[in-house]
Amino acid sequence: MYVSMKEMLQHASEHNYAVMAINCVDFEQARAIVSAAAEEGSPVIVDISPRQMKAHATPEYMAPLVRAIAEDVDVPVALNLDHGDTYENACRAIRAGFSSVMIDASSYDFEENVRRTRMVAAMAHAHGASVEAELGHVGQAAAGDGRTADMYTNVDLAKEFVERTGCDALAVAIGTAHGAYPDDFVPTLDFDRLAELKEALQMPLVLHGGSGAGEENIRHVVSLGINKINVCTDLFRLQRKAMHDKLNENPGIDYMDLMMWGEQAAKQYIKDYMKMIGSCGRYGFEFEGAALD
Ligand code: 13P
Repeated sequence: MYVSMKEMLQHASEHNYAVMAINCVDFEQARAIVSAAAEEGSPVIVDISPRQMKAHATPEYMAPLVRAIAEDVDVPVALNLDHGDTYENACRAIRAGFSSVMIDASSYDFEENVRRTRMVAAMAHAHGASVEAELGHVGQAAAGDGRTADMYTNVDLAKEFVERTGCDALAVAIGTAHGAYPDDFVPTLDFDRLAELKEALQMPLVLHGGSGAGEENIRHVVSLGINKINVCTDLFRLQRKAMHDKLNENPGIDYMDLMMWGEQAAKQYIKDYMKMIGSCGRYGFEFEGAALD
């Protein structure tokens, strides 16, 4: 079932679990994500970023593909623009058929973030799409950004931000960062801040930089109200390694078999992650009018 993120994440927020949002650049990844969700009875979100759109995953090709795979299963599947950085790429994603967009204006000052988010929210909502925004800033693991507490989300500003923008879900900065952390480094997260944010906002909250965040941290943030967890780096690395090892083991392997090997590895990883964040067996919830025409 092809849906927007709105009802999906509201349900997760009300029932205290999180949905995986996984970056995807091709058919094998799209099918791995959706079939993992179908087998686990779990909602799921497919994420594509502007960089990925530009380099490989053309939105006009990917949206019909993801939608067709989603419509073949009963579980709710959303397709979301990840870190949309302009009004134009949000429009392009929605025109291509994305069911959801993120507008990430978190590098701008508060007023400019509000202005940009409001504009995208008005446009997206008029087209039945849901909107994720970001306040505070989730930076890059390689730059050590997760440790910079002045980038973290301010609770009072978050309340004002949500009221003024009308966003449906909010990405918060509490200590994670995008990409790979140094070996053996596990980030320290600001759980108190997360609890305050949930208490003040009572809405779906999003954690970016799910890779390398540590199982204990992930379980804890879900218990405190994170409802969407973005994962890219760990899955791409795992899939690449599975294919690399297979090719070493059998250099003459058929191309199609190699691709399917990678797909199976991705699927297993996603299924395990879904179990960790409590989204399995949730698809039977009421989805009034949520399926998109
Ligand atoms: P990671 O690559 O660190 O998993 O982050 C993914 C992400 O947050 C995409 O928005």
